[in-house]
Order: sequence, then structure tokens, then C-alpha cells
Amino acid sequence: MSKSYQIAVLAGDGIGPEVMAEAKKVLARIAELHDVDFQLEDKLVGGAAIDDSGSPLPEDTVAACEKADAILFGSVGGPKWENLPPDQQPERGALLPLRKHFGLFANLRPAVCFPALTHASPVKEDRIAGGFDVLCVRELTGGIYFGEPKSIEEVDGEKVAIDTMVYKQSEVRRIAEVAFTAAQGRGGRVTSIDKANVLRNGILWRETVEEVAKNYPDVKLDHLYVDNAAMQLITRPREFDVVLAPNLFGDILSDEMAMIAGSLGMLSSASLGESKGDGLYYGMYEPSGGTAPDIAGQGIANPIAQILSAAMMLRFSLGLNEAAEAIDAAVKAVIDDGLRTGDIYTGSEGQTKVGTAEMGDAIVAKL
Ligand code: IPM
Ligand code: MN
Repeated sequence: MSKSYQIAVLAGDGIGPEVMAEAKKVLARIAELHDVDFQLEDKLVGGAAIDDSGSPLPEDTVAACEKADAILFGSVGGPKWENLPPDQQPERGALLPLRKHFGLFANLRPAVCFPALTHASPVKEDRIAGGFDVLCVRELTGGIYFGEPKSIEEVDGEKVAIDTMVYKQSEVRRIAEVAFTAAQGRGGRVTSIDKANVLRNGILWRETVEEVAKNYPDVKLDHLYVDNAAMQLITRPREFDVVLAPNLFGDILSDEMAMIAGSLGMLSSASLGESKGDGLYYGMYEPSGGTAPDIAGQGIANPIAQILSAAMMLRFSLGLNEAAEAIDAAVKAVIDDGLRTGDIYTGSEGQTKVGTAEMGDAIVAKL
């Protein structure tokens, strides 16, 4: 009997369901080719769940995730739900609680600019000729996103907002270990991001990362203040390997990296918890781009980020490395063939503009 895996599928809002349909096609083909069985369980999340039951993260969605080996996530949010109270909005009410509930502290966001797509980047082509490959490792369950106190209160006749940045040394240590381990399997360099010239958090972050670095003598470490990093990444992205950042800085820098890589529609991500001991992780896998409400429902969204996220899931949560590599290669092959969704189409010779389903079918055909 073929090995069976349970996957909670949370497609969400906007282009989420459209691109998820293509990732499912890919998984179905992988199941045939690699003799495995994927039990996909579709569940509502985000705005779609609010419309159905009033809650952005219904209990039965969480329950399905709990019994699954991994979560394949689309995207949540949209104009329709923007005026709800903050905690009931799709992003804050679904994404953040899911990360916290499952202890998904390690967010891996590969910012890969394919050599064939350098023209799609807003950065001058000579700065990124040959493409680049940077892995953003973002701390995901701590820092200012979750620190207490957090409030908006009336003080002396005016409103005062408080967010608190808190990091325990153990939280810094474990995310640094993820970054160093990743660097060992790649270019052997970690650039750690902080604001040690202003924040106490930065001092502790830097000190702790230095300490962890001693256990990885084969990895070269350097540090950048976040403001300087924003500049350096955009001017010389090819010189970076692994970028390690606290939650908020990682949020911002990973969007910057995604943009200069050419299109949000190409970038996958993994949010992982502690290792389960067998080299595998429970994780949630989602495209880096959002719900793109402006193009939702038109069948033109790029499904590649969702498909590459499924590949990351096979690699980190299911241990199906060969299958993951086959998907990565199939994506590269269709790009080399000139297939382009609107976000990466520039009209140069050799390009064929395709829609969401055509792109998915082409990738399946390459497997
Ligand atoms: C992301 C998003 C989320 C974040 C939002 C939607 C809460 O921007 O995954 O990067 O800030 O973490
Ligand atoms: Mn973000």
C-alpha cells in the first residue's frame, strides 16, 4: 500500500482558491508518479469563513489542521472584511492565531530571482544579472507582533497605542539555529538583522546570534542594522545568502526581497515549528503574495508561488524530497519555455502569455 499523508487545505480568499486548484493538480500528479496518497481536507479560513460562520478561524478548521501532517494555505483578507474590528479581520483573526497555536516560529521565505526573469524586476538588470537566491529566515511567533502589553487606551484625553517588542534569548537562539543550519546547506553565510543601535532587543538579538554562531564555524556571520539592510539588499542582492531577522523586520525585508525578485506570484514560504526529531517539521505553507483582490476570479493569477509552497511542504513536512525537486524543476522548465502569467509577462520574444490553469497544466505536464 502506498504511504498516505493528511493535508489540511485552507485556500482562503481572493486568488487563494484559484491558485490552490493548480497546486492540487500538481499534488494529484505527484501522488501517481511517486506512489503516495494525499488525503486533502478542504477547510474554510479568513473572509470565506467569516461569511460562512462569523469566525475567521472556525474550530473545525483548527481541528483539521491538528490531525494533518501539514497545512497548505492560500491567502486571506480583502476589502470586504477590512472594516471589521481588528481581531475579527481575516489576517489578525486567522493567520496570526494559526502561527501561534502551532508554534510556527520559523518562517522561511526564499527570494529567488530566476535568471530568465531578471527583466521582470524593478531593479536595474545589471545589478541582478544571472538572478539571485536569498533565503529570508524570519522569526514568526515573537517580537512586537505578540509582545504584551498591546493596547489602545485613552490617556489624559487622547488615545495612546502600545505595542511591545519582547524577545527571550531562547526564542532568538532557536531561530538563529534554523538560519545557520539552512546556511550550511546553501552558501554558508548568514546576515543577521537588528536595530542594536537603538533597541535593547537588538543588543540581545546580536549577542545571542554571535553565541549561536560559535557552534557553526563553517558559516560566516555578519550583522546589519535593518535600515542599512533595506538599502544593501536592493543594491546588491546577489551577495546575500541567508538573511535572519526578527518578526517585524523580516516581514518588511521579505516583501522588499519578493518585489526585487520580480513578482510576488513566484515566491513560496514555509512556517515551521520545532523539529519532530525525524528531520521533519509540522508546518504551514503559503505563497508570499496576498489575495490580490484586483485580479481575483479572472483566472490570470500566477499559481507558481502556491505550487512551490506545496513543494516546500513535501520537503519539510513529508520528507518527499525527490517529489519536491521534481516540482521545482518543472516550474523552472515552464519558465525556460517562455510561459508567463501576466505578472511576469513583458512581451519579449519567446514569451507566451498564459492564464492560471494553463500554467498549472503546463507544470503538471513537465513532471
Ligand atoms: C505576512 C503578512 C502577515 C504578517 C499579515 C497579513 C498579518 O504580511 O505573512 O507577511 O504581517 O505577518
Ligand atoms: Mn508581510
